[in-house]
Amino acid sequence: MNIAIVGTGYVGLVSGACFADTGANVTCVDVDAAKIDALRQGNIPIYEPGLDDLVVKNMKAGRLKFTTSLADVLDSQQIVFSAVGTPPDEDGSADLKYVLQVARTIGRNLNKYVVVVTKSTVPVGTARKVRAVIQEELDRRGVDIPFDVASNPEFLKEGSAIKDFMSPDRVVVGVESEKAKKLLTKLYKPFLINNFRVIFMDIPSAEMTKYAANSMLATRISFMNDIANLCELVGADVNMVRAGIGSDGRIGRKFLYAGCGYGGSCFPKDVKALIHTADGNGYSMEVLKAVERVNERQKSILFEKLCRVYGADGLKGLTVSLWGLAFKPETDDMRESTALVMIEKLLDAGCSLRVYDPVAMDECRRRVGDRVTYCKDMYDAVLDSDALLLLTEWKEFRLPCWEVIAKAMNNRVVIDGRNIYDAEELEENGFKYLCIGK
Ligand code: UDX
Repeated sequence: MNIAIVGTGYVGLVSGACFADTGANVTCVDVDAAKIDALRQGNIPIYEPGLDDLVVKNMKAGRLKFTTSLADVLDSQQIVFSAVGTPPDEDGSADLKYVLQVARTIGRNLNKYVVVVTKSTVPVGTARKVRAVIQEELDRRGVDIPFDVASNPEFLKEGSAIKDFMSPDRVVVGVESEKAKKLLTKLYKPFLINNFRVIFMDIPSAEMTKYAANSMLATRISFMNDIANLCELVGADVNMVRAGIGSDGRIGRKFLYAGCGYGGSCFPKDVKALIHTADGNGYSMEVLKAVERVNERQKSILFEKLCRVYGADGLKGLTVSLWGLAFKPETDDMRESTALVMIEKLLDAGCSLRVYDPVAMDECRRRVGDRVTYCKDMYDAVLDSDALLLLTEWKEFRLPCWEVIAKAMNNRVVIDGRNIYDAEELEENGFKYLCIGK
């Protein structure tokens, strides 16, 4: 089977490598020539465990190719996936510029039937726009070539993208013809060994499913953060509450961790976009608006706690250490990360910052410049520090040697934004320990 995937970002590259690994002939397309050159040499532009090996293996096997020109390869494709970016506009709506550009290229160069599948997260109604743009170009050329559009939102998570793609809970596909359904069933067949389901539906429902899923997950997090903040006031422990409610099968155990806020490329963007879609339809998503507000506040909750320790006017001149800069472990992605909010707040308050992340140091340098001190490891980061703030729960932060840290720090204060440490152990080592929801 021959498929092209346009856009070699997270979703595009992972999908391309995974489809190729099941035997499909995949051509990944990107307008960024430097990126395509690098990929041809096996240099992967993003950090994702296992991705380099998978790309190189399938390239060597001849099943994964890279090009800058969709037009050149279009004739040999049965399916074209569009996995280009949909950055938020200033008003929070998804910018469809790139998605529609791909549609235009297809319309201008199409010579035989193809299914055009949108994998990018796009608002309801986008497939219809894609269809219209392709048709417009075909009409302009005066040709009549049949094609189908489809929607296949992607649910993979950064950091476990390959595993998520290879054994998904489900695959959602919105189609409008039997022919497209047949082709997509064939493409996803190799994954059926892993016992998952392909759920076929109409296109608007598929487009909506992705936003609803991410918004539901973001809602769970903000809800738990709200509960956590209340737990602190009434003397309850959010970890106990989580265990208590998570064992109810209707609620489930996953995605109930209180912390210092959610970030990343998806939740913040998708929640905003859904609110915007609703507003545009004369409906107000009250729950989601609150989800956003709670998350905004939660990103500075560690700052509030630090103020509680040192007094709001007592932060000036302090040295503060940050462990974890990426929005979550196993990625170098800092989009919408809590670290970005905390860095600005702490610098504004007159603190000096010593920061460390296992992989996001370059990314942080790019975004923040030399206003903070980049440390060579987690122990270097706590040198002469007045407070250690844990923002991202990387594995290597889970079992630190507290004796060493106690000696290195100027003041023994640990504020744990992901609830991974044992209060008793820290207190035994003379630390003042604060966490979330306890
Ligand atoms: C998310 C969705 O999970 C995925 O299905 C979709 O395709 C893209 O968006 P991702 O952004 O990669 O994936 O990360 P995820 O692991 O979902 O975490 C998102 C954020 O939520 C992180 O900042 C994480 O720290 C936070 N989080 C997650 C919590 O605060 N508590 C939790 O219980 C779970």
